[in-house]
Amino acid sequence: MTQTLSEQLKETATFIQSKGIKEVEFGLILGSGLGELADEIENPIKIAYEDIPHFPVSTVVGHAGQLVYGELSGRKVLAMQGRFHYYEGYSMQTVVFPVRVMHALGAESMIVTNAAGGVNESFTPGNLMLITDHINFTGNHPLIGTNDENLGPRFPDMSNAYTKAYGEVAKSVASKLAIPLQQGVYMGFSGPTYETPAEIRFARVIGADAVGMSTVAEVIAAAHMGMKVLGISCITNLAAGMQADLNHKEVVETTERVKVEFKTLIKQVLAEL
Ligand code: 6GU
Repeated sequence: MTQTLSEQLKETATFIQSKGIKEVEFGLILGSGLGELADEIENPIKIAYEDIPHFPVSTVVGHAGQLVYGELSGRKVLAMQGRFHYYEGYSMQTVVFPVRVMHALGAESMIVTNAAGGVNESFTPGNLMLITDHINFTGNHPLIGTNDENLGPRFPDMSNAYTKAYGEVAKSVASKLAIPLQQGVYMGFSGPTYETPAEIRFARVIGADAVGMSTVAEVIAAAHMGMKVLGISCITNLAAGMQADLNHKEVVETTERVKVEFKTLIKQVLAEL
């Protein structure tokens, strides 16, 4: 017997609750190289993805693959240390399943982070960027298929997918802490290749400031369920045609270099949200 999405969500939520995870205020999705923030969660309860019913197992190096629950800046957070990417071969429905689980556990807000390539000419590697909006260029969509009316409407509004008030808090915190914070539009590609220089010129012309291989599906699922969202990109490199060449090593090195700033920003934002 195949289960409905609602049944799967219920089973997964019940399992997670049985591990002592009761109240969740904020879901936290930690991107490539940014997972260390989860190590600062107090009184942590950790659950490996492989132990969670209906969770797939992450395949990318540098992604730990566990949920970490506890307190961060006095808020009850459930962090994903490692996420599921479409380019790994997971369906979009699988990619967003953890977001739906977070919501099922009571999270009304989500903080989503990623490593991204800079498209805006004024960005420098190491910049953090507040995501103000996105362009779904993945070629797929997580809400295709039967709509579960318990989760949200058939035709969700995306006008305010990135919660303005959260962005304002992030900007004010960044300014207080003297952490430079760019802002802009994140354009999601499927990957796993980085883009061609022509694709990056196209991205810039249609209004993208940064490009990446994640986030848009998760934010669509969050918006569908009416969750509030804060999105932060770490600009790890400039996109194709804007610098010599691209490699994952540089992505990892840049996140390593800015992780203290990144963690400080997210923690202080959490305290003030
Ligand atoms: Cl340049 N492109 C994509 N799609 N993802 C990235 C990136 C570029 N740099 C870091 N992540």
